[in-house]
Amino acid sequence: MDMKIRPRRLRSGELLRKMVRETRVDASSLIYPIFVKEGVGIVEEIPTMPGQFRYSVDTMGEKLVSLQNAGVSSVMFFGIPDHKDEVGSGAYAEDGIVQKALRRAREEFPGMYLITDVCMCEYTSHGHCGVLCGHDVNNDETLKLLAKTALSHAQAGADMVAPSDMMDGRVAAIRAELDANGYLNVPIMSYAVKYASAFYGPFRDAAGSAPSFGDRKSYQMDYHNSREGIKEALLDVEEGADIIMVKPAMSYLDMVTKIREAVKVPVAAYSVSGEYSMIKAGAALGYIDEEKIICETAASAYRAGCDIYLTYYAEEIAWYIKEGKIG
Ligand code: PBG
Repeated sequence: MDMKIRPRRLRSGELLRKMVRETRVDASSLIYPIFVKEGVGIVEEIPTMPGQFRYSVDTMGEKLVSLQNAGVSSVMFFGIPDHKDEVGSGAYAEDGIVQKALRRAREEFPGMYLITDVCMCEYTSHGHCGVLCGHDVNNDETLKLLAKTALSHAQAGADMVAPSDMMDGRVAAIRAELDANGYLNVPIMSYAVKYASAFYGPFRDAAGSAPSFGDRKSYQMDYHNSREGIKEALLDVEEGADIIMVKPAMSYLDMVTKIREAVKVPVAAYSVSGEYSMIKAGAALGYIDEEKIICETAASAYRAGCDIYLTYYAEEIAWYIKEGKIG
Protein backbone atom coordinates (compact mmCIF):
# COMPACT_ATOMS: atom_id res chain seq x y z
CA MET A 1 0.00 0.00 0.00
CA ASP A 2 1.29 3.49 -0.84
CA MET A 3 1.49 5.10 2.57
CA LYS A 4 4.51 7.28 3.26
CA ILE A 5 3.40 8.37 6.69
CA ARG A 6 2.84 5.57 9.14
CA PRO A 7 2.48 6.87 12.70
CA ARG A 8 2.95 3.34 14.03
CA ARG A 9 6.55 3.36 12.73
CA LEU A 10 7.65 5.44 15.75
CA ARG A 11 5.85 3.12 18.15
CA SER A 12 7.55 -0.07 17.10
CA GLY A 13 9.84 -0.60 20.09
CA GLU A 14 10.39 0.58 23.64
CA LEU A 15 13.69 2.38 22.96
CA LEU A 16 12.26 4.29 20.04
CA ARG A 17 9.08 5.15 21.92
CA LYS A 18 11.18 6.60 24.71
CA MET A 19 13.37 8.50 22.24
CA VAL A 20 10.44 10.30 20.65
CA ARG A 21 8.56 10.87 23.87
CA GLU A 22 7.20 14.41 24.12
CA THR A 23 6.79 14.63 27.87
CA ARG A 24 9.61 13.93 30.31
CA VAL A 25 9.07 13.66 34.01
CA ASP A 26 11.75 14.57 36.50
CA ALA A 27 11.64 14.03 40.26
CA SER A 28 13.04 17.52 40.88
CA SER A 29 9.67 18.94 39.83
CA LEU A 30 7.69 16.94 42.40
CA ILE A 31 6.37 18.44 45.63
CA TYR A 32 5.01 16.29 48.43
CA PRO A 33 2.30 17.79 50.70
CA ILE A 34 2.87 16.74 54.31
CA PHE A 35 0.55 17.09 57.32
CA VAL A 36 2.15 18.00 60.64
CA LYS A 37 0.27 18.14 63.91
CA GLU A 38 0.90 19.03 67.52
CA GLY A 39 1.96 16.20 69.80
CA VAL A 40 4.72 13.65 70.19
CA GLY A 41 5.28 10.28 68.55
CA ILE A 42 2.34 10.63 66.19
CA VAL A 43 2.13 8.73 62.91
CA GLU A 44 -1.58 8.60 62.30
CA GLU A 45 -3.12 7.26 59.12
CA ILE A 46 -5.73 9.53 57.56
CA PRO A 47 -8.89 7.43 57.21
CA THR A 48 -10.01 8.98 53.93
CA MET A 49 -6.49 8.92 52.47
CA PRO A 50 -5.08 5.43 53.11
CA GLY A 51 -1.30 5.48 52.90
CA GLN A 52 -1.11 9.14 54.00
CA PHE A 53 -0.33 10.12 57.58
CA ARG A 54 -0.38 12.98 60.02
CA TYR A 55 3.02 13.34 61.66
CA SER A 56 4.18 15.16 64.75
CA VAL A 57 7.34 17.23 64.44
CA ASP A 58 9.47 14.46 65.98
CA THR A 59 8.24 11.77 63.57
CA MET A 60 8.01 13.68 60.29
CA GLY A 61 11.73 13.10 59.74
CA GLU A 62 11.05 9.45 58.87
CA LYS A 63 8.91 10.53 55.97
CA LEU A 64 11.38 13.20 54.87
CA VAL A 65 14.13 10.58 54.78
CA SER A 66 12.11 8.21 52.65
CA LEU A 67 11.18 11.06 50.31
CA GLN A 68 14.82 11.98 49.92
CA ASN A 69 15.76 8.36 49.28
CA ALA A 70 13.25 8.29 46.49
CA GLY A 71 14.60 11.54 45.03
CA VAL A 72 11.94 13.97 46.23
CA SER A 73 13.49 17.04 47.84
CA SER A 74 10.57 19.46 48.02
CA VAL A 75 7.73 19.36 50.52
CA MET A 76 4.79 21.57 51.32
CA PHE A 77 3.70 21.79 54.94
CA PHE A 78 0.12 21.80 56.17
CA GLY A 79 -0.38 22.37 59.87
CA ILE A 80 -2.94 20.86 62.20
CA PRO A 81 -3.01 22.94 65.38
CA ASP A 82 -4.36 21.93 68.78
CA HIS A 83 -6.34 25.11 69.25
CA LYS A 84 -8.42 27.08 66.81
CA ASP A 85 -9.94 30.53 67.26
CA GLU A 86 -11.95 33.12 65.37
CA VAL A 87 -8.88 34.81 63.90
CA GLY A 88 -6.74 31.74 63.22
CA SER A 89 -3.92 32.93 65.46
CA GLY A 90 -2.17 29.55 65.24
CA ALA A 91 -1.39 30.32 61.60
CA TYR A 92 1.00 33.14 62.48
CA ALA A 93 2.10 32.15 65.99
CA GLU A 94 5.85 32.00 66.47
CA ASP A 95 5.46 28.57 68.04
CA GLY A 96 2.72 27.50 65.61
CA ILE A 97 2.86 23.95 64.33
CA VAL A 98 4.17 24.80 60.86
CA GLN A 99 6.74 27.19 62.32
CA LYS A 100 8.00 24.43 64.63
CA ALA A 101 8.10 21.91 61.79
CA LEU A 102 10.04 24.36 59.63
CA ARG A 103 12.68 25.01 62.28
CA ARG A 104 13.18 21.30 62.83
CA ALA A 105 13.28 20.46 59.13
CA ARG A 106 15.59 23.38 58.39
CA GLU A 107 18.03 22.03 60.95
CA GLU A 108 17.82 18.33 60.17
CA PHE A 109 17.23 18.46 56.42
CA PRO A 110 19.30 21.32 55.07
CA GLY A 111 19.14 19.80 51.59
CA MET A 112 15.37 19.93 51.35
CA TYR A 113 13.30 22.70 49.84
CA LEU A 114 10.59 23.75 52.29
CA ILE A 115 7.35 25.28 51.07
CA THR A 116 4.37 26.26 53.19
CA ASP A 117 0.67 26.47 52.47
CA VAL A 118 -0.45 29.90 53.65
CA CYS A 119 -4.10 29.83 54.69
CA MET A 120 -6.32 30.29 57.71
CA CYS A 121 -8.82 27.43 57.37
CA GLU A 122 -6.93 24.90 59.49
CA TYR A 123 -6.63 27.50 62.26
CA THR A 124 -10.02 29.19 62.41
CA SER A 125 -12.78 27.83 64.65
CA HIS A 126 -15.29 28.32 61.81
CA GLY A 127 -13.07 26.65 59.18
CA HIS A 128 -13.18 29.49 56.67
CA CYS A 129 -10.05 30.75 54.95
CA GLY A 130 -10.11 34.19 56.59
CA VAL A 131 -11.67 36.33 59.29
CA LEU A 132 -15.42 36.67 59.29
CA CYS A 133 -17.65 39.67 59.13
CA GLY A 134 -21.08 38.20 59.78
CA HIS A 135 -21.18 35.13 57.57
CA ASP A 136 -18.82 36.50 54.97
CA VAL A 137 -15.04 36.35 54.88
CA ASN A 138 -13.65 39.87 55.14
CA ASN A 139 -11.14 40.11 52.32
CA ASP A 140 -9.01 43.07 53.35
CA GLU A 141 -8.78 42.20 57.05
CA THR A 142 -7.71 38.68 56.07
CA LEU A 143 -4.87 40.05 53.92
CA LYS A 144 -3.09 41.38 57.00
CA LEU A 145 -3.18 37.99 58.68
CA LEU A 146 -2.07 36.15 55.56
CA ALA A 147 0.90 38.50 55.21
CA LYS A 148 1.74 37.94 58.86
CA THR A 149 1.51 34.17 58.38
CA ALA A 150 3.76 34.21 55.32
CA LEU A 151 6.32 36.34 57.15
CA SER A 152 6.33 34.03 60.17
CA HIS A 153 6.92 31.07 57.84
CA ALA A 154 9.86 32.84 56.19
CA GLN A 155 11.27 33.69 59.62
CA ALA A 156 11.00 30.05 60.65
CA GLY A 157 12.92 28.92 57.57
CA ALA A 158 10.47 28.50 54.69
CA ASP A 159 12.11 28.63 51.27
CA MET A 160 8.84 29.46 49.52
CA VAL A 161 5.30 30.39 50.54
CA ALA A 162 2.13 29.29 48.78
CA PRO A 163 -1.09 31.20 49.58
CA SER A 164 -4.18 29.06 49.02
CA ASP A 165 -6.92 31.25 50.49
CA MET A 166 -8.14 32.95 47.27
CA MET A 167 -8.52 36.41 48.82
CA ASP A 168 -8.14 39.26 46.34
CA GLY A 169 -4.81 41.04 46.58
CA ARG A 170 -3.06 38.49 48.80
CA VAL A 171 0.00 38.10 46.58
CA ALA A 172 0.68 41.86 46.68
CA ALA A 173 0.11 41.95 50.44
CA ILE A 174 2.44 39.01 51.08
CA ARG A 175 5.12 40.32 48.70
CA ALA A 176 5.10 43.71 50.43
CA GLU A 177 5.39 42.15 53.89
CA LEU A 178 8.19 39.78 52.89
CA ASP A 179 10.12 42.55 51.13
CA ALA A 180 9.71 44.99 54.01
CA ASN A 181 11.35 42.41 56.25
CA GLY A 182 14.20 41.55 53.96
CA TYR A 183 12.85 38.33 52.45
CA LEU A 184 13.27 39.58 48.90
CA ASN A 185 14.21 36.16 47.60
CA VAL A 186 11.45 34.05 49.08
CA PRO A 187 9.27 33.18 46.08
CA ILE A 188 5.48 33.11 46.14
CA MET A 189 3.72 30.18 44.52
CA SER A 190 0.16 31.37 44.21
CA TYR A 191 -2.79 29.01 44.20
CA ALA A 192 -4.18 31.45 41.65
CA VAL A 193 -6.49 29.15 39.74
CA LYS A 194 -8.19 27.38 42.59
CA TYR A 195 -11.69 26.05 42.14
CA ALA A 196 -14.37 25.41 44.75
CA SER A 197 -14.07 21.66 44.44
CA ALA A 198 -15.46 18.52 46.04
CA PHE A 199 -12.08 16.96 45.33
CA TYR A 200 -10.79 18.61 48.55
CA GLY A 201 -13.10 16.44 50.66
CA PRO A 202 -10.49 14.00 52.02
CA PHE A 203 -8.06 16.87 52.77
CA ARG A 204 -10.62 18.61 54.94
CA ASP A 205 -10.98 15.39 56.85
CA ALA A 206 -7.19 15.08 57.11
CA ALA A 207 -6.70 18.65 58.30
CA GLY A 208 -10.00 19.09 60.15
CA SER A 209 -10.63 22.21 58.08
CA ALA A 210 -14.14 21.83 56.69
CA PRO A 211 -16.14 25.07 57.02
CA SER A 212 -18.59 24.83 59.92
CA PHE A 213 -21.27 26.59 57.85
CA GLY A 214 -21.71 27.43 54.19
CA ASP A 215 -19.04 26.71 51.60
CA ARG A 216 -16.06 28.37 49.95
CA LYS A 217 -17.84 29.53 46.81
CA SER A 218 -17.53 33.22 47.64
CA TYR A 219 -13.75 33.01 47.36
CA GLN A 220 -12.80 29.86 45.42
CA MET A 221 -13.73 29.79 41.74
CA ASP A 222 -16.81 28.40 40.04
CA TYR A 223 -15.78 25.33 38.08
CA HIS A 224 -17.86 26.35 35.09
CA ASN A 225 -15.39 29.15 34.40
CA SER A 226 -12.24 29.19 32.36
CA ARG A 227 -11.52 32.82 31.40
CA GLU A 228 -11.89 33.78 35.04
CA GLY A 229 -8.97 31.47 35.81
CA ILE A 230 -6.81 33.32 33.30
CA LYS A 231 -7.85 36.61 34.89
CA GLU A 232 -6.82 35.34 38.34
CA ALA A 233 -3.49 34.07 37.03
CA LEU A 234 -2.64 37.33 35.23
CA LEU A 235 -3.58 39.38 38.28
CA ASP A 236 -1.36 37.32 40.55
CA VAL A 237 1.58 37.60 38.15
CA GLU A 238 1.10 41.37 38.15
CA GLU A 239 1.10 41.35 41.95
CA GLY A 240 4.39 39.48 41.97
CA ALA A 241 3.59 35.75 41.99
CA ASP A 242 6.65 33.75 40.91
CA ILE A 243 4.76 30.53 40.18
CA ILE A 244 1.10 30.04 39.32
CA MET A 245 -0.76 26.96 40.46
CA VAL A 246 -3.85 25.28 39.04
CA LYS A 247 -5.87 23.20 41.48
CA PRO A 248 -7.25 20.52 41.33
CA ALA A 249 -5.29 18.92 38.49
CA MET A 250 -7.11 16.00 36.91
CA SER A 251 -10.42 17.64 36.05
CA TYR A 252 -8.71 20.95 35.25
CA LEU A 253 -6.02 20.00 32.75
CA ASP A 254 -7.59 22.37 30.22
CA MET A 255 -6.72 25.17 32.64
CA VAL A 256 -3.14 23.96 33.00
CA THR A 257 -2.74 24.24 29.23
CA LYS A 258 -4.41 27.64 29.04
CA ILE A 259 -2.48 29.11 31.96
CA ARG A 260 0.77 27.87 30.50
CA GLU A 261 0.00 29.88 27.36
CA ALA A 262 -1.20 32.94 29.28
CA VAL A 263 1.67 33.46 31.73
CA LYS A 264 5.45 33.41 31.46
CA VAL A 265 6.13 32.07 34.94
CA PRO A 266 6.34 28.35 35.83
CA VAL A 267 3.01 26.57 36.21
CA ALA A 268 2.23 24.09 38.98
CA ALA A 269 -0.61 21.58 39.08
CA TYR A 270 -1.88 20.18 42.38
CA SER A 271 -3.29 16.68 42.24
CA VAL A 272 -5.48 17.02 45.31
CA SER A 273 -6.67 14.67 48.01
CA GLY A 274 -9.80 13.50 46.19
CA GLU A 275 -7.77 12.49 43.17
CA TYR A 276 -5.45 10.47 45.41
CA SER A 277 -8.28 8.85 47.33
CA MET A 278 -10.21 7.87 44.22
CA ILE A 279 -7.19 6.05 42.85
CA LYS A 280 -6.54 4.38 46.22
CA ALA A 281 -10.15 3.26 46.54
CA GLY A 282 -10.37 1.99 42.96
CA ALA A 283 -7.13 0.08 43.42
CA ALA A 284 -8.22 -1.37 46.77
CA LEU A 285 -11.33 -2.73 45.08
CA GLY A 286 -9.19 -4.24 42.34
CA TYR A 287 -10.89 -2.16 39.66
CA ILE A 288 -7.76 -0.39 38.44
CA ASP A 289 -4.01 -0.92 38.46
CA GLU A 290 -2.71 1.68 40.95
CA GLU A 291 0.84 1.90 39.60
CA LYS A 292 -0.23 2.35 36.00
CA ILE A 293 -2.89 4.89 36.90
CA ILE A 294 -0.40 6.91 38.96
CA CYS A 295 2.00 7.05 36.00
CA GLU A 296 -0.71 7.94 33.52
CA THR A 297 -2.27 10.71 35.62
CA ALA A 298 1.14 12.22 36.40
CA ALA A 299 2.21 12.18 32.76
CA SER A 300 -1.08 13.77 31.74
CA ALA A 301 -0.51 16.75 34.04
CA TYR A 302 2.96 17.33 32.58
CA ARG A 303 1.64 16.80 29.06
CA ALA A 304 -1.03 19.44 29.74
CA GLY A 305 1.82 21.83 30.50
CA CYS A 306 2.70 21.91 34.18
CA ASP A 307 6.32 22.38 35.19
CA ILE A 308 5.74 21.43 38.81
CA TYR A 309 3.48 18.68 40.17
CA LEU A 310 2.19 18.54 43.72
CA THR A 311 1.00 15.07 44.62
CA TYR A 312 0.53 12.70 47.55
CA TYR A 313 2.07 10.11 45.21
CA ALA A 314 5.35 12.03 44.88
CA GLU A 315 7.43 9.30 46.49
CA GLU A 316 5.93 6.55 44.34
CA ILE A 317 6.34 8.61 41.18
CA ALA A 318 9.99 9.30 42.00
CA TRP A 319 10.61 5.56 42.32
CA TYR A 320 8.76 4.86 39.08
CA ILE A 321 10.98 7.41 37.35
CA LYS A 322 14.09 5.61 38.65
CA GLU A 323 12.63 2.29 37.54
CA GLY A 324 11.88 3.62 34.07
CA LYS A 325 8.13 3.12 34.41
CA ILE A 326 7.44 6.77 33.71
CA GLY A 327 9.49 9.60 32.30
C1 PBG B 1 -6.35 25.33 52.28
C2 PBG B 1 -6.12 24.24 51.31
C3 PBG B 1 -6.98 23.23 50.90
C4 PBG B 1 -6.23 22.39 50.06
C5 PBG B 1 -4.97 22.94 49.97
N1 PBG B 1 -4.92 24.08 50.73
C6 PBG B 1 -8.37 22.94 51.27
C7 PBG B 1 -9.46 23.82 50.84
O1 PBG B 1 -9.27 24.80 50.12
O2 PBG B 1 -10.56 23.54 51.30
C8 PBG B 1 -6.72 21.13 49.41
C9 PBG B 1 -5.68 20.10 49.17
C10 PBG B 1 -6.19 18.75 48.85
O3 PBG B 1 -7.41 18.50 48.72
O4 PBG B 1 -5.36 17.87 48.69
N2 PBG B 1 -7.26 26.28 51.90
